[in-house]
Amino acid sequence: MSDDLVKLRPTGLAHGGWCVARYEGRVVFVRHTLPGETVLARVTERRSRLWRAEAVRILEPSPDRVPHVWPPAGPGGVGGADLGHVALAASRRWKAAVVQDTLRRIGHLDREVTVRALPGEDERDGLAWRTRVTLAVDDGGYPGMHPPRSGRVIRLSGMPLAVPEIDGHEVFGSRHAGASRLMVAAGSDGTTAVLTDGRGPDATRALVHHVTVPVPHGLPLGGSGRRPGTGHANQSDHGPGGGQPGHREGRLEIDYRTMPGTFWQVHREAPGALAGAVLAAGADLLAEGRAIIWDLYCGAGLLTVPLALTAGERASVWAVEADPHAGRAARRAGRDVPTAHVRVGDVESVAPRLPAPDLVVLDPPRRGAGRDVCAGIVHSRPRAVVYVACDPAALARDAATLRDGGYRLDDVVGLDMFPRTHHVECVARFTRDQHRDKE
Ligand SMILES: C[S@@+](CC[C@H](N)C(=O)[O-])C[C@H]1O[C@@H](n2cnc3c(N)ncnc32)[C@H](O)[C@@H]1O
Repeated sequence: MSDDLVKLRPTGLAHGGWCVARYEGRVVFVRHTLPGETVLARVTERRSRLWRAEAVRILEPSPDRVPHVWPPAGPGGVGGADLGHVALAASRRWKAAVVQDTLRRIGHLDREVTVRALPGEDERDGLAWRTRVTLAVDDGGYPGMHPPRSGRVIRLSGMPLAVPEIDGHEVFGSRHAGASRLMVAAGSDGTTAVLTDGRGPDATRALVHHVTVPVPHGLPLGGSGRRPGTGHANQSDHGPGGGQPGHREGRLEIDYRTMPGTFWQVHREAPGALAGAVLAAGADLLAEGRAIIWDLYCGAGLLTVPLALTAGERASVWAVEADPHAGRAARRAGRDVPTAHVRVGDVESVAPRLPAPDLVVLDPPRRGAGRDVCAGIVHSRPRAVVYVACDPAALARDAATLRDGGYRLDDVVGLDMFPRTHHVECVARFTRDQHRDKE
């Protein structure tokens, strides 16, 4: 056996797509394997107490192993599908276990977590979902991606995790001399935009995103009829009760327009699923019909418009976004919804000047909102907080600040918005502890 190859039996999971094994008394983080397997792994990094490795031969496979759905992202390959060797249902259990463990370790919060598939995911086999890919360009001018922790570019002929209009796009296989980065994004109408090093004729052409948001039973739909520029509220019989009589669920149909460089949820089904999960998490306060709601880090208004349409005409939604392009998109999406107010600026400086909230929804970037913003939320005394997080560690840190400020973590729902990768989105609901109010 070469010096670089070691035999490992991973027993646990760590955040970031790693399994955890032990070798001669040290911890080894190993990719491309599953707990319970026996593998030969190539060591890729040696530090005194921690090694990193990737499984290159599977000696005893796990029953949850499947042939990699995208072999170029397997051992030695590009990043972007680090759970491509794990059966979809098992990958959701994997992510739930990691979120649960992270909340316990960092936030000292014990909660059962489940991770839900997005609509149609099993039928798509966890593929064909990305509406945006960023590609590197190799020395010959052809697009590809980097292996994890490497500057090398591996040329690619497509990207099966991406929607067909990107996977089959002509950027793959064509030369882009002089470029170092390409971005391809798709709207929901089949149009695509290509940016070369952040520039190009498509940079100022808006992409259209048509979003269907399931509205929990009992919430108003913001009136009926078409709302120019936003979409329309609709009643359908396709509710959680499978269309049984008496189980009517509503849905909102909303159009958003964003510049290709502006933040937008990447999975094609994510905008509707995420907005639906946020409405469900805040449903009790929305149903009162007069809540003051903050929507912090609102991006292009994905959550702002559904919140405003379901909160009632006496409610108001105050949305805050730092990126002026996203803020403009949010204003445009909510332009016919008089109860939606968009403020462009940093949450840190804008939120303290907003009316006192009943409900705070926040969806910060990967690093989380941080101690100061969470302390500010506690200080503003909302009855509930709905926190959307793409990094469980940041969620756990911020959850601990909210808990220390008197907020109880009621529920955490995981959404599998990044299938075939280790990434997961969480929607966590916190309620102010009534006992603290009486102190
Ligand atoms: C994860 S995105 C969420 C956007 C939106 N909720 C959605 O789901 O489409 C986070 C957003 O926060 C914005 N942002 C980052 N730092 C900010 C800050 N300090 N204040 C306000 N917005 C910020 C980013 O521009 C980005 O649009």
